[in-house]
Amino acid sequence: MNIQGKIGIFDSGYGGLTIFKEILKELPEYDYVYLGDNARAPYGSRSFETVYRFTLECVQYLFEKNCPLVILACNTASAKALRTIQQKDLPKIAPQNRVLGVIRPTTEIIGHLSPSKHIGIFATEGTVKSESYLIEIKKFFPDLIVTQEACPMWVPLIENNEHLSEGANYFVKKHVQNLLTADKNIDSILLACTHYPLIAPKIKEFLPSNIQLISQGNIVAKSLKKYLLHHPEIDIRLGKHKQREYYTTIEAEWFNEKAALFFGETIHAKKIF
Ligand code: DGL
Repeated sequence: MNIQGKIGIFDSGYGGLTIFKEILKELPEYDYVYLGDNARAPYGSRSFETVYRFTLECVQYLFEKNCPLVILACNTASAKALRTIQQKDLPKIAPQNRVLGVIRPTTEIIGHLSPSKHIGIFATEGTVKSESYLIEIKKFFPDLIVTQEACPMWVPLIENNEHLSEGANYFVKKHVQNLLTADKNIDSILLACTHYPLIAPKIKEFLPSNIQLISQGNIVAKSLKKYLLHHPEIDIRLGKHKQREYYTTIEAEWFNEKAALFFGETIHAKKIF
């Protein structure tokens, strides 16, 4: 039997590539479709309704591309759209399919990574305001002290490949200082936006060396591996021919150039919508 199903990976832009890279290390044999909605990024400062509408459109596109399993490799979409899609839309449009986010797997383990039990979170405005992290972390680690800092300029800097430039210093320094002033006992900072691992070298320039930065890629990849082990009914629908397709909502050449830089591989994307 030639199984054709693929794992869909969705983000507002390039950020999902930081998750995809780690997923490929854990699960290299599967077939994947990556979709970046770059033309409409950033999602971080958009309303709940808009993020939900855009995310649902992209999820439906990935379903049409034969992805029975879609990972929202985007915290903003996970915070603002995932629950509604899972509870309201999936039962109607594709009851056999599954959509998973990045917040739950992260909050399940985050408390184990901070000896001082004081963590900081860098995220988009949308993720911070949704309070999804505060609510989810409380379920697993009620004693953890969590301080959030929204960094609305970071995704635009990354989408324009200016995040490691000198011009980015002001916006990085400012948010690092705000966070560390708000809680002086923070020993670990979660990068709760999938774009942010790309700006991590710049963040480290302004961060005391005893404070660790936590990226989600590896956490999400390990959690997906576990999910597939526990859900053979989904796993059996997924092809394992190492095929990869890339789609974007901007001009393909623009996407290919920056994505290759961020991903470390040549990419041939197709423009959609
Ligand atoms: N990568 C998305 C996230 O994890 C970025 C959101 C945006 O487009 O602002 O939140």
